[in-house]
Amino acid sequence: MGDTNITPATTATEPELVQGLAHEIPSDGAPNSSESQALATRLQHLSLAAQTIHADDYLNSHPSIAPPMHVSTTFRYNDNPDELYPWANKNPLNPHDSHIYSRDSAPNATRLEAILTSILHGPTLSYSSGLAAFHALLTFLNPRRIAIGGGYHGCHGVIKLMSKLTGLQMLDLDCPDADLQPGDVLHVETPLNPTGEARDLQFYAEKARRTGAYLTVDATFAPPPLLDPLQWGADVVMHSGTKYFGGHSDMLCGVLAVAPRHAGKWIQLMREERLVLGSTLGSLEGWLGLRSLRTLEVRVRKQSQDGEKLVKWLTGEMAREGGIVKEMVREVRHASLQKEAEEEGSWLKRQMPNGFGPVFCFFMKDEADAKRLPSKLQLFHHATSLGGVESLIEWRSMSDVECDKRLLRVSVGLEGWEDLRDDLVQAFDALAKEKKAA
Ligand SMILES: Cc1ncc(COP(=O)(O)O)c(C=O)c1O
Repeated sequence: MGDTNITPATTATEPELVQGLAHEIPSDGAPNSSESQALATRLQHLSLAAQTIHADDYLNSHPSIAPPMHVSTTFRYNDNPDELYPWANKNPLNPHDSHIYSRDSAPNATRLEAILTSILHGPTLSYSSGLAAFHALLTFLNPRRIAIGGGYHGCHGVIKLMSKLTGLQMLDLDCPDADLQPGDVLHVETPLNPTGEARDLQFYAEKARRTGAYLTVDATFAPPPLLDPLQWGADVVMHSGTKYFGGHSDMLCGVLAVAPRHAGKWIQLMREERLVLGSTLGSLEGWLGLRSLRTLEVRVRKQSQDGEKLVKWLTGEMAREGGIVKEMVREVRHASLQKEAEEEGSWLKRQMPNGFGPVFCFFMKDEADAKRLPSKLQLFHHATSLGGVESLIEWRSMSDVECDKRLLRVSVGLEGWEDLRDDLVQAFDALAKEKKAA
């Protein structure tokens, strides 16, 4: 890319108005026509919940309240030979819902993208998985260097693959400014997988501005209303939509939202590249995602609140002399436990004003206990992933071989924190009993 004329915001600003919808390529060749701008911006005054329920209304040409499920891979061209234009196939019933071939676009994913464009405050494309989105992002920006910290190991796998193909060099996120050059990428995951701890986006936006690097943010652990990385200067925001956007552990999805200041130049090219990569979201997943986004705000707020309650309870128990938790648990980690979470006006409070996220982790004192505890739980499923309505716990070594063997990652679902707390209590008791018997 090499576009160095970026001016990331270094202080929080009101979300920029969205200048064009990801899925719209008006066949009149006017992606920033006043009509498409009006469509994209008219919902910004509504609440998050109202946007997730109505931002795709204009794409619905059928009287059904629930979205129809479209599974077609291909769409009829115009019957009139004089109306045939390459890669433009305007649907006379609804020009915004025009499609050619589902590797490019299809109705369900288009509606999903319309909502995501509205709630992420930047034109958004969907992909077949979070890693497919990250791969598409690196393919598009094609940096020579990427600075990245810990976080989800799969993203490091994509970087390794790209290094094989392009010589992409991986640097530490906190490398000296001099190691970065214009067109490189600073990739920040916040909150971090698997600990749920947050990073200061304003700090990294300033580093990106100083060096001319792009700031890309993996915000999978903090979907709206918890975090808006574009507000803090990100150039592109990535999500594994598999997690909170899907919300029901039944779909894979990846998401890239582009800062409106780049949208005119970037979004069309990214869409063209997605057509070639072939990593488009499936129609069933588009439909499932649409169903799920309707309840995003209530789910995420409640999951985050319950996560914080569980963290607070666990840390309280760790301070209680003679308690079973104190006996077995060494440490709990979560953004709500970072010192800035207590400081009025801190970067963390400003960055995550609506809660610190539903994922946290704790370290057992003993490796064997970490391996055994999940099998004693009755409500928490022992499984990888996060973001669903079901609470999950994972002995993280199962899917991340480099992870500390004492670490258990918790994704809080919607069961209610008291029931989850009681489940943990009975599991700690059962483990203690088993140890005693042995
Ligand atoms: C922070 C983060 N980013 C990206 C991904 C990859 O997403 P997906 O599994 O949808 O490819 C994950 C998956 O767990 C993740 O936790």
